[in-house]
Amino acid sequence: MPDLVAEIKTLEGQATQRIAASTSVEALQMVAHEFVGKKGALTAVMKQLGSLTPEERSLVGKAANDFKTQLETLLADKEAQLQDARYESLKESEFIDLSVNPKPHAALGVKVPFGGHIHPIAAMQKKLEDIFTSMGFSIVDGVQVEDDYHNFGALNFTEDHPARDMQDTFYVQAHGGAGVPADTMSSVPGPEAHGGAGVPAGTRQPYLLRTHTSTVQIRALEKMQPPLRIIAPGRVFRYEEVDASHEHTFYQMEGMLIDRKVSVGNLLHLMQTLLTEVFGREVEVRLRPGYFPFVEPGFELDMKCLVCAGKGCSVCKHSGWVEVLPCGLVHPNVLQSAGLNPDEWQGAAFGLGLNRLVMMRHGIEDIRHFMAGKLDFLRQF
Ligand code: DAH
Repeated sequence: MPDLVAEIKTLEGQATQRIAASTSVEALQMVAHEFVGKKGALTAVMKQLGSLTPEERSLVGKAANDFKTQLETLLADKEAQLQDARYESLKESEFIDLSVNPKPHAALGVKVPFGGHIHPIAAMQKKLEDIFTSMGFSIVDGVQVEDDYHNFGALNFTEDHPARDMQDTFYVQAHGGAGVPADTMSSVPGPEAHGGAGVPAGTRQPYLLRTHTSTVQIRALEKMQPPLRIIAPGRVFRYEEVDASHEHTFYQMEGMLIDRKVSVGNLLHLMQTLLTEVFGREVEVRLRPGYFPFVEPGFELDMKCLVCAGKGCSVCKHSGWVEVLPCGLVHPNVLQSAGLNPDEWQGAAFGLGLNRLVMMRHGIEDIRHFMAGKLDFLRQF
């Protein structure tokens, strides 16, 4: 009787050597084919099983199975090894250095492609973030699809408050998202709408595209304990008639600090330091009264015109001053709606219009340029 187990062991030795010597996936496939394929060496051995006793057969069967398993493992390991080596060599041979300036391809008449760069609004945002974080502020994120409570209610805009008309709003048709029962939402801002955290069950809750980043005042106060200093940069939306100074989508940065004692003097000093950093020279500021429901007192902050040094020019409409940002001391109702005691805590808040700052800095006359996606405009920065 032929010693089939020994034959299988010999095949195993041969296959192992062949696999070790293979230098391509194709060579490995050949090995598999030659040893365990339909017409392979193992199949030939197994054809002789008929002449064996049942005990011998089971021994040979086991040896054959072991061989197959062993072969599969060796083939898979070797294939992985070859793939790794291939990727390594491709990394070398196909490496493209994207930081190298492309050369014009004169023969093909191809122009030098223009390199990408930071958008002027993103650059302004980064600059402000650097200034504020160096003054101990943290950067906080909000959400762009907001509820009425965070955008208006908790910021002291009562239901029928005329100040809601200051901010024309895009309302969002809600389709009962995860975890939000459909009957708690409405696309129509009804007079009964209010709520947010702790909204009574069944109250209708309109959703909207946030009209300002002041929403993050409330979101931050829900999560953080005072004293705190935060900024919240982001995109905001208004249902605006678009013209040279109005856009439906623009960028703001909200700022807020809460402490035991905060005064208008603190706010003024902070804003002056900020603007001096932004414009790279000493600036003079002044406050005029301004109305926003979530601050009391509220102000419009003006900066002495940098173009004419206050003498009067077309940029400052011959007044010597340019309106830069609104600000104020946080209204006690806002503190209260966030669960803070207004006798214990005070706050200051300000809203920077990033588009406006970039426009002032670069002398851009039309806000629509930012969203127009025109490369000729963007390439100037
Ligand atoms: N959220 C206001 C707006 O978009 C701007 C604003 C005004 C923010 C006064 C403030 C503030 O923090 O104190 O019109």
